Amino acid sequence: MNTILDTTVFLGKFLYYGLEFLVTSIVPKSKKDVAGETVLITGAGSGLGRLLAVRFAGLGATVVLWDINQEANLETRRLAQEKGGARVFAYKCDCSSRQEVYRVADQVRGEVGDVTMLINNAGIVTGKPFLATPDHMVERSFYINAISHFWTYKAFLPAMVKANHGHLVCICSLAGMVGISGLSDYCASKFAAFGFAESLFFELSHIKENQIRTTIICPFFFNTGMFEGCTTKYPFLLPIMEPEDVAQKIVNAILEEKVYLILPKFAYVAFVLKQLISPKMMIALSDYLGANTSMTSFRGRAKAGEPPVEAERKCD
Ligand SMILES: NC(=O)c1ccc[n+]([C@@H]2O[C@H](COP(=O)([O-])OP(=O)(O)OC[C@H]3O[C@@H](n4cnc5c(N)ncnc54)[C@H](O)[C@@H]3O)[C@@H](O)[C@H]2O)c1
Repeated sequence: MNTILDTTVFLGKFLYYGLEFLVTSIVPKSKKDVAGETVLITGAGSGLGRLLAVRFAGLGATVVLWDINQEANLETRRLAQEKGGARVFAYKCDCSSRQEVYRVADQVRGEVGDVTMLINNAGIVTGKPFLATPDHMVERSFYINAISHFWTYKAFLPAMVKANHGHLVCICSLAGMVGISGLSDYCASKFAAFGFAESLFFELSHIKENQIRTTIICPFFFNTGMFEGCTTKYPFLLPIMEPEDVAQKIVNAILEEKVYLILPKFAYVAFVLKQLISPKMMIALSDYLGANTSMTSFRGRAKAGEPPVEAERKCD
């Protein structure tokens, strides 16, 4: 009897939410106001992090910038202030160090207040075939691209739960949904980041009247320098995107409280197909799209975020 009732309630909810999804996909969703929110962005010193910082400052949010590169971070602060940001704070923080994340988070709470939107954006890429990937870069990729997210959530989520208000944003990657040749440590760390953010999305959904949102962003390559030299075979299907466009789409997705954003749209097709077609079909598709050769001419940023090898041990 319980099973029948349970199944009926489930089917009712499933149908209702399906219709709701259909309507909200057609009718443009209203955007939330972030004036008065405190937005913390990791890896704000360049690329996407900088563009997001400038946009959120322009929308009237208090913006807290974290980066391992303080000089670059101060330049982002200058640009954000130029864009009208009245409250912009820059902190040097190596997100791969748990102790440093907790220490700087305490400082932020004391000097700025509680963070209400956390954007985990800091990232690095090794960009070598698996057997040529140095061990310390495997560790470093995991610490920065995934494990740091555990520390930032631990630091800022409790206040969000207490206030039942907040937004958690994971800048993941298409490489966090589909394995790409030549990106083994990057893909693995981004899959981890995706799994972590999605798991927390479900965990938080059990809070009564939950008002803590999650947004997970999975873009293909965009032109910041991080993936310098990478190629795409059919740009009309999988273009290497312009960072400004990507940043604007991400801001829109956050303001519309979308849970997932995959860029470009064609990537949704590849992701769904992956679950349905045979491995040989998948390899053929991947060859056709040039996914197996996209990293061949990778140059990237010279030693981006890469510390001297002896500094690795502090990532305990
Ligand atoms: N560029 C792309 O094609 C692309 C595609 C998909 C996803 N992404 C993801 O988007 C995010 C931003 O990428 P981007 O292209 O702007 O890269 P970027 O290299 O321009 O910026 C990354 C920033 O992270 C900072 N950083 C590196 N290690 C750090 C650490 N330990 N602590 C704090 N900050 C650190 C760097 O100093 C830099 O300012 C990354 O997570 C990346 O993986 C990028």
